[in-house]
Amino acid sequence: MNNSKHILVTGGAGYIGSHTVVELINQGYVPVIADDFRNSEERIISGIEKITEVSPQTHRIDVTDLGALEYLFQKYSFIGVIHFAAYKAVGESVASPIKYYENNLLSLINCIKLCEKYGVKNVVFSSSCTVYGEPDQAVVDEQSALKPANSPYGATKQMSELILQDVVRSKADLKVLSLRYFNPIGAHPSGEIGELPIGAPSNLVPYITQTAIGKLAELTVFGDDYDTEDGSCVRDFIHVMDLANAHLKGLEWLSNQEGQLFDVVNLGTGKGTSVLEIIHTFEKVNDISLNWKFGKRRDGDVSQIYADASKAKQQLNWVAQKSLEDSMRDAWIWEQKLANAK
Ligand code: WQD
Repeated sequence: MNNSKHILVTGGAGYIGSHTVVELINQGYVPVIADDFRNSEERIISGIEKITEVSPQTHRIDVTDLGALEYLFQKYSFIGVIHFAAYKAVGESVASPIKYYENNLLSLINCIKLCEKYGVKNVVFSSSCTVYGEPDQAVVDEQSALKPANSPYGATKQMSELILQDVVRSKADLKVLSLRYFNPIGAHPSGEIGELPIGAPSNLVPYITQTAIGKLAELTVFGDDYDTEDGSCVRDFIHVMDLANAHLKGLEWLSNQEGQLFDVVNLGTGKGTSVLEIIHTFEKVNDISLNWKFGKRRDGDVSQIYADASKAKQQLNWVAQKSLEDSMRDAWIWEQKLANAK
């Protein structure tokens, strides 16, 4: 009986990965981080250590390097893999599609090949609501049609889920849970880890906090003429700690399943929130007046999308706990910590 508690976390120094590593340690697992820090910094590992008083095993490797990744499967007896390592900037993927297809697909294929070779049966895959493309209706559940992806990034997530389904269908001894994240925001309440955009941020909340701290001059709201209550886009913004906790619930569920399986679960709050509501919540919670203006729509944006999160509740016994106020408060604490650390 394998009494190891080792979990391979590819991209474990990243935004969602690092918060999940904290939760894994808190729950008694032994996370092993495989990350080449192309989208992170050592400070995130120090932050994990400060929060948990544990120094996670960290290997600076490129997950697209099969040999380097195989070394970890030879060194540790993994009971599961959580595969985060991927590029995720929608706009960048439109400009550099091959970079996204090569990195996001090859890293996944390497993980799956080695799981099969070394008998690792439990795989949690970091997917995204971008697999739904431009949905027919704002709220999507796991049965909703997967419309054409709006970007190469979204296409890599659709293709990754197809690859995983086909591998399971080939009777590989594998149990796969694909978690479709909506919009992750916020940071660990300690302010020790958070989102670390390398270069100019593309996502809304880091753009808000960097504008508030003065790193950026002004926030532009991309579009005021959408068919929504206030004219701005609607998304399902979920606290990254809730997202991290869902991965523990997913691992637990997977370990209780038998045989081969591929399943998908939406990870969202189940509530749609507009861009303007996010701005107003940030201003109210942190008593800040943000410098913003309306601009033209951003290519590739869907008007509205948010989760029907009932499957996560029924199957994983997981419901998002944190409020938008928690997310805006934690994001601001993190941004201020970053500024003070400079
Ligand atoms: C949100 C809204 C923008 C910046 C992201 C990731 C994707 C996936 C889901 C994980 C949109 C508006 C943004 C700005 C703005 N995550 N906005 N001004 O595009 O929903 O998708 O989350 O898998 O990887 O790309 O997130 O934060 O870029 O945009 O008005 O300066 O905020 O138009 O309506 P998006 P986002």
